[in-house]
Amino acid sequence: MNEITPPPPLAPNDLSAFWMPFSANRAYKSAPRMLARAEGMSYFTPDGREVIDGTAGLWCVNAGHGRREITEAIQRQAAVMDFAPTFNMGHPIAFQAAAKVADMTPDGLDHVFFTNSGSEAADTALKVALAYQRARGQTQRVRLIGRERGYHGVGFGGMSVGGIGANRRQFGTLLPHVDHLPHTHAPERNAFSRGLPEHGAHFADALENLVALHGDTIAAVMVEPLAGSTGVLIPPKGYLARLRELCDKHGILLIFDEVITGFGRLGTPFGAERLGVIPDMLTMAKGLTNAAVPMGAVAVSDAIFTTIVEGAPAGIEFFHGYTYSGHPLAAAAAIASVDLHRSEDLPGRARALEDYFADAAHSLKSAPNVVDIRNFGLVAGIELQPRRGKPTERAMRIFHRCFDAGVLIRTTADIIALSPPLIAERHHVDRIFGTIAEAIRAEAA
Ligand SMILES: Cc1ncc(COP(=O)(O)O)c(C=O)c1O
Repeated sequence: MNEITPPPPLAPNDLSAFWMPFSANRAYKSAPRMLARAEGMSYFTPDGREVIDGTAGLWCVNAGHGRREITEAIQRQAAVMDFAPTFNMGHPIAFQAAAKVADMTPDGLDHVFFTNSGSEAADTALKVALAYQRARGQTQRVRLIGRERGYHGVGFGGMSVGGIGANRRQFGTLLPHVDHLPHTHAPERNAFSRGLPEHGAHFADALENLVALHGDTIAAVMVEPLAGSTGVLIPPKGYLARLRELCDKHGILLIFDEVITGFGRLGTPFGAERLGVIPDMLTMAKGLTNAAVPMGAVAVSDAIFTTIVEGAPAGIEFFHGYTYSGHPLAAAAAIASVDLHRSEDLPGRARALEDYFADAAHSLKSAPNVVDIRNFGLVAGIELQPRRGKPTERAMRIFHRCFDAGVLIRTTADIIALSPPLIAERHHVDRIFGTIAEAIRAEAA
């Protein structure tokens, strides 16, 4: 293997060409903050300043940055075979990667469809649900149910089933035949809960109302078991079990979007296991390759796979796929990532740190303008009182203060969302929450 010398981290001299995603382009480009290198728990700026990663990139880098095992697997595969199609053709590493992933998913979810992102995984799962209902003769089941404040990426399917108003507003009529359950956020009863909140299982009963309204036309319900992007909403005790029960009662598929809860984040390989509810399908991305190469996937039950594939006439059974489904470099990264999760017991590490992390998060309870703190696994949300007439400003200023003090956090509206790599140690947790506490106090002064 050749030693690869990284290029010097040059600052770009023209910021105009890159239209940045989900970004305030004008504000960012007027005062850019750059990340140039990463290792373990840390990023480094172009001038070499260390920034502790409190967000695993974007809920992605669960095994920590720059893992040699993953980098070398990608390098080896790039040298052996850069690309091969998977449409009516195969290459061994895609099959190996699918088997590895199936080994990690909950029992019974053993068939894996590869995509390139969480958004594509969400849209794929929705299409599988529709194809399944049609294949079993329930052709009237064309309706898809999401949840208010849900995030399932930015494809038309995931965006429509998603429930974040700002993500939908600019884009016309979206997908037809979509409805939403209420979100589960109930701060009046659950504020400052540690772990699963006590109140709110009844929010799942709204599915009965949707069935009363739409009859037997519902194909699937898709939810994040723990909602991340909207600002960390933890499922109330009993809520997911109730949703499972109602889906079974009414012949509706249950899809968990595990793009952020998968790969150890909640202390088990997938959130489904920790939360004790197994869906019919689950989506994943991010931690799947430790984000070293883009990849997503959908794991589906035997019943769904068999109904669609075995029930079809000879020929293509499911008219869906991506040029890069099972891309060799992504497959190599996924295998190495799953192996790291196993050999280093990353879910176990998350579990072992969880109480310490929760104590640190809840120690901010008395900080000024903190109106709620919620946590589960290695995820925490700290909700701040917005400045009057200036939503998001307080959180954004705290974000900048933290970055300048050497800690990367994530904010959504006025909520700080934390999800460090699962290799974090206590001193990282101290540093992350200590820096946030100082930033919150400085902003209130
Ligand atoms: C639950 C969930 N689903 C889907 C997505 C979309 O993933 P991607 O950005 O890879 O398309 C995300 C991204 O944060 C997510 O959190």
